Amino acid sequence: MFPLLLLGQIILATLAYSKDDTDTTYALEINGKAPSSAVDVPANFFSFGIETAFFENFITDLSENLVDSIGSRMSEPMIIRVGGTSGDMVRVNESQAEATACVAGNNCPHSSKDTFSLGPSYFDGFKKFQNAHMTFQAPMYPHSNSDNWLNHSMAYVRHAANALGHDRIAGIALGNEPDYYEYGKEEYVSRALDIENKTIEMLGLSGEERRIFELGDIPDSVIQTRDNKNYGLANLLQGKLDNNGFGKFAAQHHYQIPGSQQVSGKEKLQELLMNHTAITERFPIIESSIKSTRANDDKIAFVLSEVGSAIGAAPVSFSRGFGAALWAADFHLVSMSRGVKRVSNTMRPESTHSFWIPDNSGGQKTKGPAVQGIFIASPFITDFVGNASLGKVVEVQVPGQPDLFSAYAMYNRESSKIERVALINLREWYPDLSSSRGRAIITLQIGSGGAHSATIRRMHADKGSNAVGYDLGGYDNNVTWAGEQWTSKIDNGKGHFPRGLEEETVKVENGTIDVTVPNSEAVIVSFE
Ligand SMILES: *[C@@H]1O[C@H](CO)[C@@H](O)[C@H](O)[C@H]1NC(C)=O
Ligand SMILES: *[C@@H]1O[C@H](CO)[C@@H](O)[C@H](O)[C@H]1NC(C)=O
Ligand SMILES: *[C@@H]1O[C@H](CO)[C@@H](O)[C@H](O)[C@H]1NC(C)=O
Ligand SMILES: *[C@@H]1O[C@H](CO)[C@@H](O)[C@H](O)[C@H]1NC(C)=O
Ligand SMILES: *[C@@H]1O[C@H](CO)[C@@H](O)[C@H](O)[C@H]1NC(C)=O
Ligand SMILES: *[C@@H]1O[C@H](CO)[C@@H](O)[C@H](O)[C@H]1NC(C)=O
Ligand SMILES: *[C@@H]1O[C@H](CO)[C@@H](O)[C@H](O)[C@H]1NC(C)=O
Repeated sequence: MFPLLLLGQIILATLAYSKDDTDTTYALEINGKAPSSAVDVPANFFSFGIETAFFENFITDLSENLVDSIGSRMSEPMIIRVGGTSGDMVRVNESQAEATACVAGNNCPHSSKDTFSLGPSYFDGFKKFQNAHMTFQAPMYPHSNSDNWLNHSMAYVRHAANALGHDRIAGIALGNEPDYYEYGKEEYVSRALDIENKTIEMLGLSGEERRIFELGDIPDSVIQTRDNKNYGLANLLQGKLDNNGFGKFAAQHHYQIPGSQQVSGKEKLQELLMNHTAITERFPIIESSIKSTRANDDKIAFVLSEVGSAIGAAPVSFSRGFGAALWAADFHLVSMSRGVKRVSNTMRPESTHSFWIPDNSGGQKTKGPAVQGIFIASPFITDFVGNASLGKVVEVQVPGQPDLFSAYAMYNRESSKIERVALINLREWYPDLSSSRGRAIITLQIGSGGAHSATIRRMHADKGSNAVGYDLGGYDNNVTWAGEQWTSKIDNGKGHFPRGLEEETVKVENGTIDVTVPNSEAVIVSFE
């Protein structure tokens, strides 16, 4: 019996380790103590965002359960952003019974140029998500002939602040993508400062409490293709936007695939989304904004307040499947290691890149309600940030700087000791691509004298990058984190473990452990 068992083990081992031509090996040296380049990561780094005019759609048990589920993994309240293009054109109508009414526009309520009227009940949304804090947007109205604009803007701010309650206001954004405003930069800056002073007066803020505003919210395309001279953060800040010194956040938007770049099939998933080089290539723009923010006022935190995979109508397997989840994981970890203080994942019911679809208002386009495959990046990212102690992070140099593999190390901010390593294998794999799934085989050297054991948890999909999640794809499209998945159909956003908790604990021997990460999978190794 003994030899038979042994033979069985050898066969199993051979099967599990049969070589695939996409196998890669990496030896990674991880500092046991935080290097000086490690960057502090806020406990509330991870965020969701909701487009202003669609806030009401998100007031569902599914949304509340998902937010609680992720928020409870964080040691500080999550900050939800309510804002966006529609948020600059909303007007409050005190006698309107409906929460939200689309009142003007070319394709109400589907176009980003539509105008919405809000009744008082709209603001009940701010009483939901009680465990979260929020930023909201003071409307700034893009048109030159916006009569009585400050009064309209203050009506929104007053209702939102009352409903949220003082302690849950994380910030108040001054408009959105101001380069689109008809009236130009000077008028924009002057309106922003007017809103600041009126808000402070209305809410009775004093001293440091007045530092509550989110500045800029500029699109990144401003820097790439449009009007960087006028609307880059450096220029806006020098141009008196923070003249009052009340700036708390400076914000920029980011879509990995901008609206101008259309993708029709999933063939470019690897090149454009699941690609560490394509992700980091976009960072010089973000880093120059961080630099100019710090140079102007080092108390202002730089955040990416509106982020998505692909803004166009990309197919499900592109912008919201498991491939996009791997993009999101890498994008967030690059962002935190380069000094971004929050990433807010933006959503509306008919946006394919949304982490979840709250209701059926997106029709056949998004087929809600549904938790999308990309959602699974949320617990991965929040668990990497951690819930017990504050952390600081570095990107680990991977020899050869591959496009399709990345690694990050998280340290305890107090003791400087290594706590976790994230390993992201971005190489695309799905069953139709090849019958065998290649993998990255990593030797992690963390030095002796540190951890004795490590726990490995995986962000996994049997179907690889093609998995769209249980709600949209059924039982063979599951996407899990440590064995847990979130669905609308089965758990209404509370999460469940189809096969129980999945994690594995290994010994650290001589300061070294080996970890295997299949293609299109990501893991977190936690040291004990
Ligand atoms: C406000 O809403 C009421 C009730 O629907 C409507 O009669 C009125 O015309 C609206 N006011 C404006 C200015 O749109
Ligand atoms: C400004 O707003 C207040 C409160 O919402 C309202 O009572 C007042 O009539 C408005 N003023 C103008 C000029 O519209
Ligand atoms: C706004 O408030 C600041 C600080 O109190 C003050 O210095 C500034 O003059 C005010 N601006 C306007 C336009 O009232
Ligand atoms: C990854 O992105 C870089 C930069 O855009 C590109 O040059 C490279 O070909 C991409 N890699 C793959 C495997 O598509
Ligand atoms: C932190 O997360 C761990 C692992 O998910 C969990 O066991 C623990 O209860 C959490 N601690 C707190 C304080 O929330
Ligand atoms: C996927 O999840 C569903 C719901 O929990 C479960 O019934 C099914 O067995 C899972 N599929 C696989 C292949 O594990
Ligand atoms: C432990 O690791 C060191 C350095 O990596 C190596 O020189 C040494 O031979 C290893 N010892 C054992 C027992 O494997």
